[in-house]
Amino acid sequence: MDKPLIVNSWNEWDPLQEMVVGSADNASFEPVEPGSRPAVRNAPDTLFPTGPKSKEAIDRANEELDGLVRVLESQGVTVRRPEPHDFSAPVRTPDFEVENQYCAVCPRDVMITMGNEIIEATMSRRARYFEYQPYRKLVYEYWNADPRVEWTTAPKPSMADGMYREEFWDWPLEERHAKMHSFEFCINQDEVVFDAADMSRLGRDILVQESMTTNRAGIHWLRRHLEPRGFRVHPVHFPLDFFPSHIDCTFVPLRPGLILTNPERPLREGEERMFLDNDWELLEAPQPVLNNDEMPLYCQSSKWLSMNVLSISPTKLICEEQEKPLQDLLDKLGFEVFTVPFRNVFEYGGSLHCATWDVRREGTREDYFPRLAYQPLV
Ligand code: ARG
Repeated sequence: MDKPLIVNSWNEWDPLQEMVVGSADNASFEPVEPGSRPAVRNAPDTLFPTGPKSKEAIDRANEELDGLVRVLESQGVTVRRPEPHDFSAPVRTPDFEVENQYCAVCPRDVMITMGNEIIEATMSRRARYFEYQPYRKLVYEYWNADPRVEWTTAPKPSMADGMYREEFWDWPLEERHAKMHSFEFCINQDEVVFDAADMSRLGRDILVQESMTTNRAGIHWLRRHLEPRGFRVHPVHFPLDFFPSHIDCTFVPLRPGLILTNPERPLREGEERMFLDNDWELLEAPQPVLNNDEMPLYCQSSKWLSMNVLSISPTKLICEEQEKPLQDLLDKLGFEVFTVPFRNVFEYGGSLHCATWDVRREGTREDYFPRLAYQPLV
């Protein structure tokens, strides 16, 4: 028998073997920039803090990240961590300048495994331009250890002013409502732009959300790259999410045939077809325990971080400790539910799925959508 692949992950749920868990070390507050307008929760007129996060905030987040590591290790998963990186350092390229970077808490946003291939996303924000760096040592290790590992870095966009639509941040709600079917956000369509977390992997079929962090050129690049490799790429849209970024609080596959959906963010009409035609169930997540105005002060994500669960296998998953209604639902569905406290991680960009990047799961590429009308680009 062939030696097992070192990098191998085709979906979000197969039995997990090796995973990278983020770290809050040296994290800074995300700066204001054309692709991002961070705001203090419930106090939009207060200035958002700048520079490094406090040692106390970093320690609190790291403690919870370490708790996640312990659960994963108790389930036999090999856990790897990012390299230290100075996120307080400014970035200056020929096209832009930004006063500091962000953090390495959410590898999901930057890195994605497509079978035996590692792809580094282009990223969409200036402060995250170099966020691949904390993962490069690991990528080299995998790439050196196994000649079957493919490694692709997507083209870096300029992130110059012209790539953004800065007015986006000032559009009144009525305008967003009127434009909800045009899917135009803070990045325009001129350059290839995507964050890895806008994708969800279901074997042969990859979903990509059009969002503030992934544009149509980005989706086009992904199609041209992935279709010749045997994937089918499906753009998906959630018109009622006026600030979409990253699909894993909106549409979360739990096992073959089952997707957890966000009751406030229905799919664009017609896009549910591929799921229903192939006997997938779309199941609404219960309301989160916290309301949006109860989320941590510096957290830029919504209360729907509640549904950002992480699968250890098709029957075991990890859920935030306080999200009892979701835990009960998952329990009824037959999952073994592990819980960890994670709210102190929220202000670093996400919850359990965001803070991880799967390198190796059991299993191979399967076709979970045998009844599909798909038109490849070529
Ligand atoms: N935009 C999402 C929400 O607020 C948060 C997504 C976080 N996901 C991630 N991979 N960082 O609902």
